[in-house]
Amino acid sequence: MQIKGRDLELLIDSKTIEEKIKEMGRNISMEFAGEDLYVIGILKGSCIFFADLVREIEGRVYIDFMQVSSYGTGMESFGEVIFIKDMSVDIKDRNVLIVDDIIDTGRTLKALVEALSLRYPKKLRTAVLLDKKDRREVDYEADFVGFTIPDKFVVGYGLDWGEEGRNLNGVYVVR
Ligand code: IMP
Ligand code: MG
Repeated sequence: MQIKGRDLELLIDSKTIEEKIKEMGRNISMEFAGEDLYVIGILKGSCIFFADLVREIEGRVYIDFMQVSSYGTGMESFGEVIFIKDMSVDIKDRNVLIVDDIIDTGRTLKALVEALSLRYPKKLRTAVLLDKKDRREVDYEADFVGFTIPDKFVVGYGLDWGEEGRNLNGVYVVR
């Protein structure tokens, strides 16, 4: 398989992702047991992970979305997080779980957590499918992590390279 003339190499297959998301769902359900939870997906990269993850969380779940941008269309971040679309719910005194596809430099999640903390949620947690630990530029770790992966650019399962590759059902390294 190729994207823009570059070969793709399978890193995580869909079955492995499915099992991991079940486990994450159990852990998240335990953390928020018996309480309402607002799950906020970060568009667009988290959409597939988000859809699978919310269905593994037990209890009363509300969903909403935000869109931020730090990447443009390339493989390198601009280093600045721009808020494009806000969620439409008031999260004051609510339990909130932010869901993103991947934590890389950490700038996106750190900026989001700082911004949303100002709205006084009851509890604010973050979940990501993928974590590129070696790339961190700011001091932030997600609360729920699916897979720690090497410093390689990946696509699939919602993640894109220049808007391509989101529909692949596994995670692939762009070679
Ligand atoms: P951070 O702010 O550097 O942590 O970047 C987070 C965002 O960068 C993610 O939500 C992704 O949209 C994007 N990103 C980082 N690494 C990759 C990758 O390997 N493939 C696709 N998108 C990525
Ligand atoms: Mg993204």
